Amino acid sequence: MRKKSITRPVIVAVAADSGAGKSTFLRRVQRMFGTEVPKGHTPQGELMTVICLDDWHNRDRQGRKVDQITALDENCQNFELMAEQLEALKEGRDIMKPIYNHDTGNIDPPELIQPNHIIVIEGLHPLYDERVRKLVDFSVYLDLDDEVKVAWKIQRDMAERGHTLDNILASIEARKPDFERFVLPQREYADAILQVKPTELIPDDKERKVLKVRLMQREGVPGFTTAYLFDEGSTIVWTPCGRRLTCAYPGIRFRYGPEVFYGRDFSSIEVDGEFDKLEELVYIESHLSNIATKYYGELTQLMLAAQSAPGAKNGTALFQTVAALKIREIYEQLTGRKVDPMVRA
Ligand code: ADP
Ligand code: G6P
Repeated sequence: MRKKSITRPVIVAVAADSGAGKSTFLRRVQRMFGTEVPKGHTPQGELMTVICLDDWHNRDRQGRKVDQITALDENCQNFELMAEQLEALKEGRDIMKPIYNHDTGNIDPPELIQPNHIIVIEGLHPLYDERVRKLVDFSVYLDLDDEVKVAWKIQRDMAERGHTLDNILASIEARKPDFERFVLPQREYADAILQVKPTELIPDDKERKVLKVRLMQREGVPGFTTAYLFDEGSTIVWTPCGRRLTCAYPGIRFRYGPEVFYGRDFSSIEVDGEFDKLEELVYIESHLSNIATKYYGELTQLMLAAQSAPGAKNGTALFQTVAALKIREIYEQLTGRKVDPMVRA
């Protein structure tokens, strides 16, 4: 590969449990930058490289079994090497990164990773270690309520992989203590948190098809201006259903307002419900501000372009798209470079 000239590598962290939607979100982010990110263990595209942090596991699957330690445990990660190698990439140096092979559970021979304009680090622990955290320019934590986690796992593991319900529930329960100890606390450090919760619009909903999704945005992060609904800083509840937006049962409800989280100022936008017709979203889009679009309707076009993705008609897609637009904006702010919109009106 030819050596690129990169003035300011931007490191974006995406933290979440496995199965929380990281890959789904990152497909949206990649579309935003129009980069054909090649397939392969570590996709290294023209603009963006996506590194899975499992590569810095310090034990293979067999070793974890012998030592009775889960992949979620801090003692199972080589944070020292992770920090050292990410720092090297940020300073423009090549690295030989280890590979954790998810199919075999083995640690494979290392691969060459070259610096890039944007380096996404995704996985269980991008914000766990202070040395790594200091290198991160912008971070997103995907925060699923247990009920939603179970529903998504059932959908994937039962429908697509033939697991039983009991197996799925047992594996979630088994992971829980280490998840709560090692993964969840990273939420404190995230610049944006995407929370996915059961709907409040259907009493005793058990289906978990309709979701309440919140985008919590931290104030004062360099390069990151928070998106808002109607009037910045105020507190608003909005039911957009009516003449301009078709809403099926149980309808749609937005909320917007400031909040304090771990002692820090955030502003949050929330949407409960499902969109009926994605083309009509431009009505919602026209009431949102600071969403970092490059033309009127870009958010709607991006949602339409990904209408077969999971959650395409609810707040997960809406706010993942806003977060992706923000990543583009932050990249432009921090580097002074411009990215052309990839999906056109
Ligand atoms: P991760 O990369 O964090 O392991 P994925 O993006 O692969 O997670 O998502 C795991 C599974 O969860 C998907 O196969 C899909 O079934 C489900 N899923 C992900 N995002 C959503 C969503 N927004 N709405 C509904 N289901 C989703
Ligand atoms: C990776 C994933 C973890 C998952 C693990 C499986 O490290 O990031 O979320 O739990 O693989 O580990 P296992 O010990 O079941 O092979």
